[in-house]
Amino acid sequence: MTLIKLRQKLFLLLFALLSVGLVLPTYVINRTIDTQVKTEITNSLLSHNKAFELYSRSSNLDIGIAALNFSKQTGLRVTLIAKDGKVIAESDSNIVLNKMDNHLNRPEVQNLKNMDYGVSVRYSNTLKKDFIYVARMIEANDVSYIRLAQTMDFAQTLIDLRTTNQNRIVIIVAAILFVFVFFVDKWINNPIKKIVNVAQEIKAGKWDRRADILSNDEIGELAENINQLAEKIENDLNKMKKMSDVRSEFLTNVTHELKTPISSITGYLETLLNGALNDENVNTVFLKRSLKNSHRLEALVTDLVDISRIETGEMKIDLTPINILPIIEEIVNEAKLRIKKRQDIEIEIVNHSKNDIMVNSNSDRIRQVFDNLISNAIRYSERGKISIVIEDDKEEYLFFVSDTGSGINEESLSRIFERFYRTEDARTKFRKGTGLGLPIVKHIIEAHNSSINVDSIEGKGTTFSFALMKS
Ligand SMILES: Nc1ncnc2c1ncn2[C@@H]1O[C@H](COP(=O)(O)OP(=O)(O)O)[C@@H](O)[C@H]1O
Ligand SMILES: [Mg+2]
Repeated sequence: MTLIKLRQKLFLLLFALLSVGLVLPTYVINRTIDTQVKTEITNSLLSHNKAFELYSRSSNLDIGIAALNFSKQTGLRVTLIAKDGKVIAESDSNIVLNKMDNHLNRPEVQNLKNMDYGVSVRYSNTLKKDFIYVARMIEANDVSYIRLAQTMDFAQTLIDLRTTNQNRIVIIVAAILFVFVFFVDKWINNPIKKIVNVAQEIKAGKWDRRADILSNDEIGELAENINQLAEKIENDLNKMKKMSDVRSEFLTNVTHELKTPISSITGYLETLLNGALNDENVNTVFLKRSLKNSHRLEALVTDLVDISRIETGEMKIDLTPINILPIIEEIVNEAKLRIKKRQDIEIEIVNHSKNDIMVNSNSDRIRQVFDNLISNAIRYSERGKISIVIEDDKEEYLFFVSDTGSGINEESLSRIFERFYRTEDARTKFRKGTGLGLPIVKHIIEAHNSSINVDSIEGKGTTFSFALMKS
């Protein structure tokens, strides 16, 4: 589709306005006036024609002399024509009679056949001027037609004057319209063009470009809408970029976390194959270390699977009424078994409620929560006490998992729920752990329409807490 620019359309409109609004009416009016003038002159010539007949009949003068006299008095040209078309008398002294051709075929004489007078406007070759002729037939001896004529000089002067003025008006109106178009162009086209330019820049990827809002009208509204659109696109893009950054960081972390235990296992196995297998001092140690790394890999992959199921929304957490206390007790017992060698750690459950701890929950998932929190408490405490406290609070039960361990510094506290985040301390001192436990816990608690809190004092201990709705 060819683009007809607004400016071109405006000029076309201007042209149409000028021709339809000004030139056409002027033409019609002029035509009407011209006809009116011609009728007026014709009537006057007709009365003079009749007056001349009366005058020539009533005076005893020769009709040729009468014609001269009449012409002198009225300034009109008088021509007398015989029945055969021969000109008998002519008032204009510039004309030589016998050089005049037959006048029967003159239009004004021809017209007479149907009417009692004939009119014609034309250029007189003899006198080199426009004339209006009015001819009448009369009953006289030798003269059959009286023709009176008047030059169009006066009418022409008026017409010329009129044309000049009309041309002036057309020029002035055209100039006004041009100025009008100029301003419309300035007020409408230019701002629109600017918006189009900005839109094109945005389209080309300059998302931060914004259109100036220059007016409080539809164009301003358009600019504002384009700006809002660009704003939204920019925000969405930033969000997507952030997401993709998080994703690639996640991937880097995953590869790194997986690579470490795999390299260790590979190293041990290679050493064993290269002869250490027969060295009884190291072979069991190396195999045990390999197994440990294998467990670590397994734990990592389990957490990764959970995280990815959370991401894809595949991890469905259906809530049903369950008694949560036996689950906690089971986990605590398992934990106690695991740490039975460590005499310096104590685990206790403090239940302040007298009722069964019935909550809307999912046993597998809530098991995962307590398992993670208790494992962390054990892992990040060198000695001391770990307490799982249950409190009854109206509609909810409150759960606290506290330890008297290393605690978490303030800076790390805001980041421990991020995937793969581990404190510097945790990284160096405890090789176990993936940094995926707390993100999973957070997600599960949120799926219970709740949230998890953490309070910690470095060197003193940490408390994680959350609430679950009673069922
Ligand atoms: N009870 C706790 N005491 C001290 N630090 C903790 C405790 N729980 C979690 N953290 C810190 O938060 C980090 C993230 O925990 P988590 O997501 O469970 O990962 P992981 O236990 O695999 O390291 C831990 O690495 C540790 O630095
Ligand atoms: Mg953990």
